[in-house]
Amino acid sequence: MTDHSLGISLMVNGEAVAERVEPRTTLVDFLRDGLGLTGSHVGCEHGVCGACTVRVNGEIVRGCLMLAVQCDGASVETIEGISDSGEVADLQTAFEQRNALQCGFCTPGMIAAAQDLLKRAKDNKRVPSRDEIREHISGNYCRCTGYHAIVDAVEAVAQARAGARK
Ligand code: FES
Ligand code: FES
Repeated sequence: MTDHSLGISLMVNGEAVAERVEPRTTLVDFLRDGLGLTGSHVGCEHGVCGACTVRVNGEIVRGCLMLAVQCDGASVETIEGISDSGEVADLQTAFEQRNALQCGFCTPGMIAAAQDLLKRAKDNKRVPSRDEIREHISGNYCRCTGYHAIVDAVEAVAQARAGARK
């Protein structure tokens, strides 16, 4: 059988990775199956649910809508790296304290999306409203919580981080 795989080199959670991948391999499948980074989940595989959210060059993307070969030369961060860096420790604590997760399937993507909003809010020197939080996580589906607790957790962290900046 003809080998159509392509060589890619990228940074994943700060570490250099060089692998061969099939052109059709999605980024999330590459991360999960190729690198064992199973914190990014696969739900709809159609760009709808947000379970596969990861960062590429600092921007959140759907890992199921991007091909691994498109990440050649890029810097990719998964929930494992985002978590290990400590940057979302307060969000993780708030999610736990406010019961913002039940099965946890949506949680890695939800945390990545929430952190994206909070970073933008910091850059703009403002605290996002509940409506803005809802809008920002509207592409991340949760089947369990009803979203209120998630919005509560993100809002609490938004206010705490803003308070810490004063
Ligand atoms: S699995 Fe990617 S958006 Fe649902
Ligand atoms: S906690 Fe189960 S899908 Fe969100």
